[in-house]
Amino acid sequence: MAHQAAKQQLDGSPPSHGDSTKDSQGESGLQTERQHKEGGETDSLACTSHVLSEMSAARSHRWSNLLTAAQLYLLGLKVLLVQLFTRPFRLPVMPRQDGKVAIVTGGGKGIGFEVVRHMARLGAHVIIGGRDEQEGLAAVRRICEEYKQAKVEFKKLDLASLQSVHHFVQSFKQLELPLNILINNAGVMLVPEGRTEDGFEQHLGVNYLGHFLLTWLLLDTLKDSGKCGHISRVVNVSSSAHRIGTVRLNDLNSCQCYSAHAAYCHSKLAQLLFSSHLHQELQRRGSPVSSCAVDPGMVDTALYRHLWMPLCLAQSAFAHLLLRVKHCCDFRLPYSHVRDGKDQLV
Ligand SMILES: NC(=O)c1ccc[n+]([C@@H]2O[C@H](COP(=O)([O-])OP(=O)(O)OC[C@H]3O[C@@H](n4cnc5c(N)ncnc54)[C@H](OP(=O)(O)O)[C@@H]3O)[C@@H](O)[C@H]2O)c1
Repeated sequence: MAHQAAKQQLDGSPPSHGDSTKDSQGESGLQTERQHKEGGETDSLACTSHVLSEMSAARSHRWSNLLTAAQLYLLGLKVLLVQLFTRPFRLPVMPRQDGKVAIVTGGGKGIGFEVVRHMARLGAHVIIGGRDEQEGLAAVRRICEEYKQAKVEFKKLDLASLQSVHHFVQSFKQLELPLNILINNAGVMLVPEGRTEDGFEQHLGVNYLGHFLLTWLLLDTLKDSGKCGHISRVVNVSSSAHRIGTVRLNDLNSCQCYSAHAAYCHSKLAQLLFSSHLHQELQRRGSPVSSCAVDPGMVDTALYRHLWMPLCLAQSAFAHLLLRVKHCCDFRLPYSHVRDGKDQLV
């Protein structure tokens, strides 16, 4: 009723009064009926066109998501071929990192673990930020068994919870250590649709937003630590998947039509844009901190566990034969783009 009245007012129709004569009552009754009918037709037309436009938007999102998935697999194939036909990656000789402090997110396994191991061997004090305490502590144990002087510790960090990011930073700051290197490495790929604790789409929340907040909260420590001659660094472990991503500002949470492939690509693009913007801002302000992104290429890790099962099996068989796998330090990284890496580890 309120909707009809509002509609009448919008149309400029006179409101009907209760004390009108029978004729006028009849006339106005007919008029109201006509208006109701017209209003009803307009309403149903508007409703139909709204439904149709939503359907076509959903269809176009579905197509664009399918296209993204196809592009992602083609890109993966291209990266794989490039890796196969280029000579194996040789780790360059890195300078010692004694006295440096680094944080590596997701350092309990995969690429992060190898980075932590290598940095610890070069003498850096490394803090692994991870959500799985057992895995993190096992990683610390393994590295300390390998290098007796290694300074490695684990701190709980769940990037899918902004509160956990705050707690992690708080507990790191209590250590009163400098921070020379922050490696935003943790990531998820192709996870089923889900939300982080704060209601963000998983890929966006973990790969981008969690790291964004972490970097932001640690920026003052990075700046302070960069004043003593060596600039501090923020390294974002990115992916060539960013090339396929688009940042849908009106649908950041992929509510309109979810695709895990598209969500991963979007999150990696967001991370890359953040890395580049941060670098520009820091340079503009003359801050002793730099930010860069590194694409590790295709490395056989647990990241691929959410692939469609037949592809997952093919990937693991292929990776077992051709890619350097999980626990060796010289995994193939021909696609790495490391900027300003002259006097630092990364
Ligand atoms: N492998 C590749 O071929 C490849 C290619 C391009 C880019 N990358 C990028 O490289 C990075 C490392 O991936 P990876 O290949 O080493 O994968 P991985 O072996 O699956 O390692 C990912 C790490 O991130 C952690 N992580 C996931 N969600 C987290 C959360 N909510 N909070 C804290 N930590 C979380 C994982 O911890 P859990 O053990 O608790 O899951 C794990 O330690 C990712 O950013 C990925 O996008 C990898």
